[in-house]
Order: sequence, then C-alpha cells, then structure tokens
Amino acid sequence: MPRNIIDITDLTVAEIDQLIATAEDIVAHPAKYQDACAHKQLATLFFEPSTRTRLSFESAMLSLGGSTLGFSDAMNSSTSKGETVGDTIHTVSCYADIIAMRHPKEGAPYAAAQFSEVPIINAGDGGHNHPTQTLTDLLTIHREKNRLDNFTIGFCGDLKFGRTVHSLVNALSRYENIHFVLVSPLELKLPRYVKEEALKKRGIPYTQTTDLESVIPQLDILYMTRVQKERFFNEEEYLRLKDSYVLTPEKLASAKESLSILHPLPRVNEISVAVDKDPRAAYWKQVKNGKYIRMALILKLLGIEV
Ligand code: CP
Repeated sequence: MPRNIIDITDLTVAEIDQLIATAEDIVAHPAKYQDACAHKQLATLFFEPSTRTRLSFESAMLSLGGSTLGFSDAMNSSTSKGETVGDTIHTVSCYADIIAMRHPKEGAPYAAAQFSEVPIINAGDGGHNHPTQTLTDLLTIHREKNRLDNFTIGFCGDLKFGRTVHSLVNALSRYENIHFVLVSPLELKLPRYVKEEALKKRGIPYTQTTDLESVIPQLDILYMTRVQKERFFNEEEYLRLKDSYVLTPEKLASAKESLSILHPLPRVNEISVAVDKDPRAAYWKQVKNGKYIRMALILKLLGIEV
C-alpha cells in the first residue's frame, strides 16, 4: 500500500521534525536535490481553486528534477462528463508516481486514496484539513522561533471553516507547552470536534474570545485567517462577518517585538497591506517555505534519500 498524507496525524512528530530538517537542508544546499526526482511525475488534481498550494507543489517537483501533469479546473477533465473521483484517481495513478489533490468535499482525498496505486496527498478538503499548509506553517514557525514548543499562539478569524487552522491546532497539540488563544466571532468558533480531539482529550489549555486587541500583547505567534466565503450558504451572513478582524499597524502597537504574524493566504482584507512592512510579518516567508517543505514531503513519500 502506498503511504498517503490525508491528515497531519498521518505523520508522527518525529517524521515532521525530520521533514523540517530536510527542508532546511534543501534551503541550504538546493543543488544537492536538483536531480533527486528525475523521471518521476507529480500529478496535481485541483477540483477547487488554488494559487500557492498547486504552484508550490509543481515548483517543488520541478526543482527536484521531476515533471508534473494534472488539471487546475476539473471542468476541463472527464469529471464534467460525470466520471467519479475514484475513477479519475485510478486513471491518474496509472500515469503519475504521486498525486496531490484538492477537493471541495470533506473526506474526498481519503476516499480517493482507496482507488490509488500511488501516494495521495491531501492539498485541502473542504472546510476540513490542509496538512501540507500545516507543514508549511510548522517550518515557518521553526525558522522564526527556532522551536516548535513553549509558546502562545493566537488563531484569529474564521476558525469554523478554516481548514488550515484545524490541521495546525491538531499538529501543535502534539508539541510541549503550547497555549492556544482562539479569536473569532461567536458564529465562527473552532468546531467542537477539533477542540475535543486535539485539545480536550490531551488536557491542553485554551482561551476563547471575540476580542483580538485584548489578547494581542500575550501572543508569540498570531495566525490570521480569511473568512471562507466559499463555505457560507448565506451571502448576507458572510458580508456581516467578513471584516470582523482587520489587523493594522495600530493594533500591533501593543504586541511583542518578537511576535510572528502568519497567514496561510490568500488574504482578502484581514491584514492591512501596511503590515507587510512590519518585520514581524512572516506570511510572505511562509509562501516560500511551502515549496521547500513540499519538496521534502515528495522525497519522503517516494522513498528517495539524498
Ligand atoms: N494557502 C493556500 O492553500 O493557498 P491556495 O488556496 O492559494 O492554495
């Protein structure tokens, strides 16, 4: 059976730490890796829009000397004729060595993996999980803080539908002494199942609030998120909630000098562009890190050692 990454807990903490070490080595010695995946093919199957995840996967494979195939719009594939996800995956697994797929339905990558002869990577499934964004976030935190334990992290925005939040909370709950501060409108609180599985079961303390400014001074990391328009059934509700939090230089006045600001992107309006110049803004570095950690993950799943 191929090794799939559907959920961040499909990787042990030791494996995540090793992926981060490999990504750091790739940053330091890119030439060492440039032919590592020669003659290997990555398929990117995106049933839902993406900029960073798809292009960073493709850039990662090209930088490893491999090649890519796939689609960024499922309506240009035989999905538009009624082909099932299972048959699509079965087909593509005959052509590619590894598949990264994004789908609007929660659980679709898990179901797809049952039909694949090659590793499947979940590149985001609905409002559920996004494990490779989490690897990106962990690499970024590690590069900013030089550790993955002993800090206070605030998650702010749409914690209900934000799949990157669910996966990162799950991942960080396995590291030591992390305090979680959950900032959202009442309607967009972190789902109970994430709190139960990741936090309560492990006895991890967390704080919930609607007020970002009152908690900013205590944070070591602030993870901002977009309100996920595409998951709302009611546009009025989206319009009412979309600008609940807008991070500005003024709001950062009371934050620690050592704060790191992350955002999985895309952003809409929740971080003012004026914040981009703040040395604490780490989200553009996060974008770059997404490529390095995906290079490390592709190597691992293909069983290639450099
Ligand atoms: N962070 C992220 O998943 O971005 P894209 O939707 O652009 O891939």
